[in-house]
Amino acid sequence: MKIARAVLVALAVLACSLSSLSCSREPVETGAKKKVVVGFSQIGAESAWRTANTESIKSEAAKRGMDLRFSDAQQKQENQIRAIRSFIAQGVDVITFSPVVETGWEPVLREAKEAGIPVILSDRTVDVTDDTLYASFIGADFVEEGRRAANWLVEATGGKAVIAELQGTPGSAPAIDRKKGFEEVVAQHPDMRIVKSQSGDFTRAKGKEVMEAFLKSPEGKDINALYAHNDDMAIGAIQAIEEAGLKPGKDIVIVSIDGVKGAFEAMMAGKLNVTVECSPLLGPQLMDTARAVLAGKTVPKRIVTKEGIFPMDVAAKEFPNRKY
Ligand code: AHR
Repeated sequence: MKIARAVLVALAVLACSLSSLSCSREPVETGAKKKVVVGFSQIGAESAWRTANTESIKSEAAKRGMDLRFSDAQQKQENQIRAIRSFIAQGVDVITFSPVVETGWEPVLREAKEAGIPVILSDRTVDVTDDTLYASFIGADFVEEGRRAANWLVEATGGKAVIAELQGTPGSAPAIDRKKGFEEVVAQHPDMRIVKSQSGDFTRAKGKEVMEAFLKSPEGKDINALYAHNDDMAIGAIQAIEEAGLKPGKDIVIVSIDGVKGAFEAMMAGKLNVTVECSPLLGPQLMDTARAVLAGKTVPKRIVTKEGIFPMDVAAKEFPNRKY
């Protein structure tokens, strides 16, 4: 008897997977309300920003009683692709992910589309020719962040600076866009030069290591400004600058992006000059969008988060308000 029932269930599952008819992922009505199942592939835990982002998404899902299937890709695109395929196999209601790099997503996104599972991009975008492969992209305008960082530096230095740049993860949307926005402004100021530019992979350890190398290079003694694509790399670089016997924030003016608590502490200590905010608190918007998509509502293709800029002189006043 048991075997017969098992065979029947297997046949039903097979029929379901072969047919697109009446086999939605809606559960069999049991009387209880169905939990929305969200598959989320996170990049990893490279920075304080990322940790806050994970926490925001996890806590928002829990608050709303959603079933969040979380997967940490440990900075590897192949792990993210594997996780997305697994979400498809599990038949989740919606997939969301922060793409570690911009390119290479088309095939797996097509698989999700064919399975009828909507995808929402969180924090970072993808480079695809067919934008029907995702429902919405929620995150900051990274190009604008780069421009804001550069504009602040123009004001602070009177348009004269020898700049070192710590880039984010190669191929990632924030690294590409923050560089682009910054360079766009710097190009209008002939006395501003970027003399060193290398990836510090968005981590403190790499930021320190690369800054040490910058300072030891032939251009090292001329560097008087640092642009770091995130706060963690700036904090690592501050250590390298101090170990080289220089004063961060004075001998080298430092501008970075994110607005994490660690950056505010560095500003209060006079070691970091400004941070351009990039909010990781995407959980509420993400879950609102997931709900709307599942309800069949039209959602904006692009949702840009609102952000500020915090120079050193407002750090102490703002610090108590910081949530991440
Ligand atoms: O994609 C957002 C960036 O990724 C943040 O600036 C950085 O800290 C993170 O790791």
